[in-house]
Amino acid sequence: MSIRFNVNGFPYEVQPADYAVDITLNTFLREHLHLTATKYMCLEGGCGSCVCVVQRRHPVTAELQTHAVNSCLMLLNTCNDVDIITDEGLGNKSSGYHPLQKRLARLNGTQCGFCSPGFVMNMYGLLEGKGGVVSMSEVEDAFGGNICRCTGYRPILDAMKSFAVDSNIEVPADCVDIEDSFELICPRTGQCSTSNCSRKTLPCQDNCHWYWPKTLVELFAALDQVAGGEEYILVGGNTAHGVYRRSKTIQHYIDINSVAELKHHSIEADHLQLGANMSLTDAMQLFQQATSRAGFEYCAQLWQHFNLIANVPVRNNGTLAGNISIKKQHPEFPSDVFITFESLNAQVLVHDNAHTQRVMTLLEYLHDRTPKLVIGAFILRSYPKEKFLFNSYKILPRAQNVHAYVNAGFLIEWQNSQRRIVGSARICFGNIHPGFVHAQTVEQFLVGRDLFDDATVVQVFEQLQSSLQPVEMPPEASPEYRQKLACSLFYKFLLGSAPREVVRERLRSGGQLLERPLSSGKQSFETIPKKYPVSQAVQKLEGLVQCSGEAKYMNDLLTTSNAVYCAFVTAKRVGATIEGIDTKAAFQCKGVVAFYSLKDVPGENNFNNTTVFTVEPEEIFCAGRVKYYDQPLGVIAANSQDIAVYAASLVQVTYANDQAKIYRSINAVLAENKDDRKFQNMEKSEKIPKLVPAAGDITGRGILQLNSQYYFTIEPQTTVVIPEEEGLRVYCATHWMDVTQASISRMLKLHANMVQLEVKRIGGSFGAKQTRANQVACACALVAFKLNRPARFVQTIESMMESNGKRWACRSDYEFLARENGSIRRLVNNYYEDAGCTLNENVVFYLTQAAIRNVYNLTDSNFSANGTAIKTDAPSNSWFRAPGTAEAIAMTETAIEHIAFACKLDPADVRLVNLRPGNKMIQLLPRFLASTEYRKRRTEINLFNAQNRWRKRGLGLALMEFPLNVTFAWCYPATVAIYHADGSVIISHGGIEVGQGLNTKVAQVAAFVLGVPLDRVRIAASDTVLGANSFVTANSMTSDVVGRAVRKACETLNKRLEPVKQKLGAQAKWEEVIESAFMQSISLIATESYVKGDQPNYSIFGLSLSELELDILTGNHLIRRVDILEDAGESLNPSIDVGQVEGAFVMGLGYYLTELLRYDRQTGRLLTNRTWNYHPPGAKDIPIDFRIELLQKSPNPVGFLRSKAIGEPPFCLAVGVLFALQHAIQSAREDAGLPREWVRLGAPTTPETVVLSAGSEVHKFSLS
Ligand SMILES: Cc1cc2nc3c(=O)[nH]c(=O)nc-3n(C[C@H](O)[C@H](O)[C@H](O)COP(=O)(O)OP(=O)(O)OC[C@H]3O[C@@H](n4cnc5c(N)ncnc54)[C@H](O)[C@@H]3O)c2cc1C
Ligand code: FES
Ligand code: FES
Repeated sequence: MSIRFNVNGFPYEVQPADYAVDITLNTFLREHLHLTATKYMCLEGGCGSCVCVVQRRHPVTAELQTHAVNSCLMLLNTCNDVDIITDEGLGNKSSGYHPLQKRLARLNGTQCGFCSPGFVMNMYGLLEGKGGVVSMSEVEDAFGGNICRCTGYRPILDAMKSFAVDSNIEVPADCVDIEDSFELICPRTGQCSTSNCSRKTLPCQDNCHWYWPKTLVELFAALDQVAGGEEYILVGGNTAHGVYRRSKTIQHYIDINSVAELKHHSIEADHLQLGANMSLTDAMQLFQQATSRAGFEYCAQLWQHFNLIANVPVRNNGTLAGNISIKKQHPEFPSDVFITFESLNAQVLVHDNAHTQRVMTLLEYLHDRTPKLVIGAFILRSYPKEKFLFNSYKILPRAQNVHAYVNAGFLIEWQNSQRRIVGSARICFGNIHPGFVHAQTVEQFLVGRDLFDDATVVQVFEQLQSSLQPVEMPPEASPEYRQKLACSLFYKFLLGSAPREVVRERLRSGGQLLERPLSSGKQSFETIPKKYPVSQAVQKLEGLVQCSGEAKYMNDLLTTSNAVYCAFVTAKRVGATIEGIDTKAAFQCKGVVAFYSLKDVPGENNFNNTTVFTVEPEEIFCAGRVKYYDQPLGVIAANSQDIAVYAASLVQVTYANDQAKIYRSINAVLAENKDDRKFQNMEKSEKIPKLVPAAGDITGRGILQLNSQYYFTIEPQTTVVIPEEEGLRVYCATHWMDVTQASISRMLKLHANMVQLEVKRIGGSFGAKQTRANQVACACALVAFKLNRPARFVQTIESMMESNGKRWACRSDYEFLARENGSIRRLVNNYYEDAGCTLNENVVFYLTQAAIRNVYNLTDSNFSANGTAIKTDAPSNSWFRAPGTAEAIAMTETAIEHIAFACKLDPADVRLVNLRPGNKMIQLLPRFLASTEYRKRRTEINLFNAQNRWRKRGLGLALMEFPLNVTFAWCYPATVAIYHADGSVIISHGGIEVGQGLNTKVAQVAAFVLGVPLDRVRIAASDTVLGANSFVTANSMTSDVVGRAVRKACETLNKRLEPVKQKLGAQAKWEEVIESAFMQSISLIATESYVKGDQPNYSIFGLSLSELELDILTGNHLIRRVDILEDAGESLNPSIDVGQVEGAFVMGLGYYLTELLRYDRQTGRLLTNRTWNYHPPGAKDIPIDFRIELLQKSPNPVGFLRSKAIGEPPFCLAVGVLFALQHAIQSAREDAGLPREWVRLGAPTTPETVVLSAGSEVHKFSLS
């Protein structure tokens, strides 16, 4: 007995008994079919890297449906009779590329490329599902579940929107060919989905059973097989596993996807019936159809609300009953299906057996404990719009794909046609506390009252406030915010539905949620033809193979079938010492192979074995006192990743000598003045004397708090180690091969030459894989070495977030004295940065201090900055894009803004008056203010704010001088070889392509210096032979320094070739020159190295202006427009550099607006450790109007080929959004009658901070 399906048109038949009972489609594709274009990271539906497309027949309509799905959640055994299409099936180098792949690559939509196949497949699913006809707004809406950490989304959205029927995206002519206009349907699919298979039940591994019922009768027959005390699951989309992990002890898996009764729907005159296991997508389609029917107009709002549930691939497989069942099992779950259906008084049809059904309310269903209850359908009755008023809300921390802070549904029945007196009311809120649904007192109070009468309104909010008593539910937002938000939502409902004349004009815009229009971008830059292909906006060399999934990352490399998989076992008691480790339960799991800890390490227990940046060793495995919650103490090796992760959780650890108190943050250390945890900057500025304020002088002080940030690379920390005849071959996602090699070899007491690394590319780092990659690499190497078997270690998202260091958090305590015109007389900044448990990769000493004066006239006589690194009980923090520099610039820019606020001056004027004489900003700032129409827009915004009570706009300026410090760039080797066979060129260098475009820029340089066409140049993987001893790829400098090494090598070759060229004459072709040189025994290989001093330091300038609009009632915002002027010198490749600017800025938006890390204060445990609760920006969080200009006619006299580095600086410019928020919030506070005070906004400033700072009070809510 088997299950059958097609993958990319090829039929497969598998025996479920051969695989783990819950093997996912992703694991099967990658590990058994070796189709590695489909990636994975989060394994919970939150990143989109695993998206592929499935095609299957609907069990009721027999219609062939095509959808994008998350292969990480879809179980293989639900793929029976399904056609599966992966990126490999769309196109590749032998069969030709698909238009989607080509367009994404051509429009510069890839950087590291790890997310790219997921984007391609999501778009393919969308197009196929809609018969190729989609609008730009449908496209822009569809990517909420695809996270790209590199690009800032703009180029991806452009590429995807260019396929829309209403597209206005300019596509380069060379990208549109006949083929592109277009046969999108994969020719090999559609053969499988015949639903003729007769399999009903199969025994699987570990005494488990799978069932494939087709009818309710068969479903209950399957349920009859479930003995008392055994666990079962009705498998719909299996997406609930992305929210709460499925139990490991389920024995019966009943696939209900073919049970027609559960998929059926109907639209009757007075009700809609929705089959329990309709997918959320199908339910939305039904809502769309129903909207035009009398009584079902409210379905338009249901559609809107469902459009905010999860993301497209999750909705394509996730079902209504699956969602409601989560709510039943976990009452605290803020289900959107539940809140909307309950407010609409939906009924549930349930079955205890195949032949009878009962009708109950949703609440009755949630509380019913009858075993084996199956939901058959949901019934939504009609609500004629003359008699009823309905609306629902969901407020999220970012634009899409997050569960609600608070959600709500309100249904009012009118007593009469005047539509003011309430007949009955249903007022439901989610995420207040697990038992709360209805605001019953308000529901009763409203009956018979005028909903829009001011006196009623006042009383409603009094009652609402007292009945809404949220409880602490970490990591959810504070009860205070959730209460305010819930009240605000009802207020919004009133404002939005009251007759126009009832609501004061200034209040009206509060009645609507912010509506985001389509986004767009503009990019301007110059190119310099005489330097081509250098300076040319050429497509990224590996863009196409990234988009087709042919580009290989570490985890795509195959090892033999005897490979083992690894997972860390971690310590959970900070400050204690480990007394015992009991692995008995872990070894009882079938498939566990080994456990190793400190005692198994033959050499040094240090994964950060460098001679620079590292002042103390970092333990691979805990060796004594536990330094932080979830510190690795050992590694489990098993036959699969799932088994390794599960077994690791079963290891029991006993502790001794508990530490009394944990110091998890800077504030905890400062609060108790723990001097032993403070490490002062050696180069601290001289203390400056206190000055006596002169008449008109303004003084002030403030605190800026910038919390940490998680890297969120889409490629996880990954290492694959293969034992070889001598030593180990290591494939590690690292951008410092030298340290990985040294750490492994010293750990294993092997000579370094026995540990050979190869790194083709890595799927994003931003610093995550500079040294943090080595802990995984060392543990993996230890396993491979001990077992003499290939080992693979891919850290789970939880493990990465819990156990690895992150951005250094920062706190600045500043005080200032300024003249009336804002000019600074004295500025003192005492700042602290959170090192975690070691002082390695110290940002205070190397980076923050160097950037802290920014572009201002801050001298030793008016400025003092004292930095202190603070040791906390946290993983050792590490460099993260613009480490230390972003904080330095944020601190100084904040002080400038605060001075402007205190002096009641325009922040631009205060900047102008404080610029350092001779600084380039003196030219740039006035020009930027003019080109962005700063003054005019500020006036318009102030007018808008005066006219709107609940909507506020703000404008935020940020200036940057980023000091590029290359003094610690040791050595970067590069080898350039020319093949005599055809003159083609191959390069291997010591840098690492992390998505920053290094390989493309280096190839452009080689083509330029050698004088060959770019397509003749190829870049090989980096390794520890030709890249021996190479220094780290970091600090935005690698294109400069590796470019210099490559140029040197090319010049060496040119010198050798010169006599040959002279001899053959100017007409000789390149191939002839090379062949002739070869015949003369001239070496066609040259190795050169960048050495310290080859490149001087220089400064990089940038400006940004951010405009945003706030909804004061919810705290949500829209970034209406951002202008960035970035000084890239003579850019080596403007399209790559524009991509770096956009990507860095958007990553900065995440830092300042959405990415919140929360910890348990008692234990130090990270509570936001998944995509479910940690939120980097998505495609609809980017600026709506995003304008990037690379400064023109601005060669860098000391830069490589007159260029400037680009990767990190633009991150610093995102701080401007804080100032825009401040501008908007101040207007709201003024309206609220609060005293004029600077508001402390830091990183991140979430909607919670906005609402709690804006001063609005619920008891003052009124309509008039
Ligand atoms: C990334 C992500 C984001 C999400 N965001 C949101 C969100 O913002 N808002 C929100 O409300 N939800 C959200 N969800 C939840 C999502 O809506 C549910 O996961 C989905 O609806 C579950 O359906 P399923 O078919 O996949 O259930 P499955 O995972 O297949 O099953 C879940 C449970 O339902 C039971 N079950 C299934 N069918 C029946 C039936 N007919 N009768 C009785 N029991 C049944 C099963 O036994 C099982 O216990 C999110 C999920 C993910 C993965
Ligand atoms: S791996 Fe499937 S969504 Fe992240
Ligand atoms: S290119 Fe999207 S994550 Fe790197």
